[in-house]
Amino acid sequence: MNVPFVDLKRQYQVIKQEVDSAIQEVVLNTSFILGKPVAEFEEKFARFCEVKHCIGVNSGTSALILALQALGIGQGDDAITTANTFIATAEAISCIGAKPVFCDIEERSYNLDPKKLEKAITKRTKAIIAVHLYGQPVDLDPILEIAKENGIPVIEDACQSHGALYKGKRVGGFGVMAAFSFYPGKNLGAYGEGGAIITNDDSLAEKMRMLRDHGSSKKYYHEYIGNNYRLEGIQGAVLSVKLRYLDEWNEKRRINAGIYKEYLKGMPVVLPEEMDYARHVYHLFVVRVKDRERLIDFLNQKGISTGIHYPVPIHLQKAYSFLGYKKGSLPVTERFMDEILSLPMFPELKEDEIHYVADCIKEFYYEG
Ligand SMILES: Cc1ncc(COP(=O)(O)O)c(C=O)c1O
Repeated sequence: MNVPFVDLKRQYQVIKQEVDSAIQEVVLNTSFILGKPVAEFEEKFARFCEVKHCIGVNSGTSALILALQALGIGQGDDAITTANTFIATAEAISCIGAKPVFCDIEERSYNLDPKKLEKAITKRTKAIIAVHLYGQPVDLDPILEIAKENGIPVIEDACQSHGALYKGKRVGGFGVMAAFSFYPGKNLGAYGEGGAIITNDDSLAEKMRMLRDHGSSKKYYHEYIGNNYRLEGIQGAVLSVKLRYLDEWNEKRRINAGIYKEYLKGMPVVLPEEMDYARHVYHLFVVRVKDRERLIDFLNQKGISTGIHYPVPIHLQKAYSFLGYKKGSLPVTERFMDEILSLPMFPELKEDEIHYVADCIKEFYYEG
């Protein structure tokens, strides 16, 4: 049996008619960039996230850059985040000329450890980017409290957590802004690049609308030096179709996670935990294992694709060596980097496929 890590074709088969006709309408109307399909999606996604504004952009990275830029952060400023995230979180900070400062993570959630946050704050700290990694919300309340005491805005990086709940409320509406990625494999994925920023702040929303389109609200009149971060019409149309299914797909991911947990019980595998404040949407199903590289090879031979998110934490990446972090700087983050393993996870994954993955893991540890 072959078990793919993600299979977007299965999903397309289910929504083919709706997606095809939505794309055709965009082409017929030649509304290729922003326009009605993007505006409609923005309105729907803002409602879904229970916030006032959504600004569609061309990637999650652009969304993070825009958020930082709108806050006026730049050279000489620091922004705190975690090193166990996709590099884009840190890159966005670097792109606007500021410096990323990394805070260690909690053992159980793999997210920023609020207990270690206060120590990382200095006079230069101008933002905290709180990442909801793997689909699990970070513990926002203590982070928001520390941020408020220090007068620092919190940006949520919700690029992996569309529709996840923190204490019963959608992520994205807690910080001053939140960034989403619609990279195709995400819980809500476009058919190309895409992203969005959401906020309840009217003036930040207005500024970001301009910044995503060369700092302009009227063609050829520019109030800010912006960039081209515009979302394409086809992506807006596809995202509007897929948004209708997001809660159902997240539920299927949760069911699949439950099946994995059941089948993997008792094996030498540390399973992902759902924190009591969180409704996890399992963008990734990340376990911790011993002898990982041999297990990956074994599963590969059995036709099972896996991933590692992420093999090298950002503070130890060559690109960030100039920051001066060393092995030992972030002990919890580093402890897990050789053990984490992402197993196949997507809504259309079948129970017998999960069963097969679990059987192969069992075979590796007990019969290998
Ligand atoms: C946590 C996180 N932040 C930011 C991004 C960047 O999003 P994009 O790839 O759409 O630029 C991603 C995408 O993988 C991500 O997972």
